[in-house]
Amino acid sequence: MKILGIETSCDETGIAIYDDKHGLIANQLYSQIKLHADYGGVVPELASRDHIRKTVPLIQAALKEANLRASDIDGVAYTAGPGLIGALMVGASIGRSLAYAWGVPAIAVHHMEGHLLAPMLEDNPPEFPFVALLVSGGHTQLIKVTGVGQYQLLGESIDDAAGEAFDKTAKLLGLDYPGGAKLSKLAELGDATRFRFSRPMTDRPGLDFSFSGLKTAAANTIHQQSCGQDLDDQTRADIAKAFEDALVDTLLIKSRRALDQTGFNRLVIAGGVSANKTLRRQLAELMAQRKGQVYYPRLEFCTDNGAMIAYAGMIHLKASQFVDLAIEVKPRWPLSELNSK
Ligand code: KG4
Ligand code: ZN
Repeated sequence: MKILGIETSCDETGIAIYDDKHGLIANQLYSQIKLHADYGGVVPELASRDHIRKTVPLIQAALKEANLRASDIDGVAYTAGPGLIGALMVGASIGRSLAYAWGVPAIAVHHMEGHLLAPMLEDNPPEFPFVALLVSGGHTQLIKVTGVGQYQLLGESIDDAAGEAFDKTAKLLGLDYPGGAKLSKLAELGDATRFRFSRPMTDRPGLDFSFSGLKTAAANTIHQQSCGQDLDDQTRADIAKAFEDALVDTLLIKSRRALDQTGFNRLVIAGGVSANKTLRRQLAELMAQRKGQVYYPRLEFCTDNGAMIAYAGMIHLKASQFVDLAIEVKPRWPLSELNSK
């Protein structure tokens, strides 16, 4: 069974083909980062227009890569939300139309479920149950996962998502959008002892996060240190280091709490921020101490991609979960809504 996956929820056009016998057999990605760079963030209208230009050629490229014809595809999965409405509409319209034309089922995939299942594409996939830490540009969530479609939200950010906090702080430090990975690289040169930011909401019980204060702490430090002049490179690196340490530490403290609360010893991290090296290293150490296991996708599948959508589509198709002819997208879509299926 071969599933075509289409991801267009934000600024990446991701197209992939997943085969239940041979695994991932095609993976194509086009990133719009350069298109949005001048604006310091994603411009929704430009994103939609670029997805229109790229989606069909990338589908053709994926079929060629896998040496398949359209008639070999058994289902078309597309991201139906959450995300930018125009961008979602492009993938959904093309995906639904192709499925209709090819006479195969169409599967509407939840973007965060795609991220959550991305570690299943690796050689040593996690077994259920596990705690998932989903950290992306739009979400920071801890989820108790007892099976496919069995998702209980344990905690989430009450303001900025982890990736959003990375990007905003990176911008304050003069780094281009999306600045998460660039800030992390800068932090490698930083002195961890020079500045210290508090770990938000760790002094009280609960599993929610708040990261907007961390960005403000970084902004205040930049202001104090700059005195109206440009910051020197070492100070920028030291602030980046203090920010990254505080954010990663907070994710670590809350993940530990979620593991204690559920009694699980498997932790999955996914979403763009799971590409962060410090986070990966520290969570690996945490799980080694607990004699548990941490799972994350390979770096290219931490950020948005079509492979995770094709994989999630395959799982849903096997469970006979597909959509009718209506093209529906949901810019906001709580993951827990999937449980009722
Ligand atoms: O999952 P994703 O590709 O898109 C969304 O669904 O939001 O996540 C993108 C986010 C951006 O905020 C980006 O700065 C962040 O992931 N990111 C990182 C790193 N790589 C990507 N943040 C910190 N460290 C990284 N290495
Ligand atoms: Zn994403």
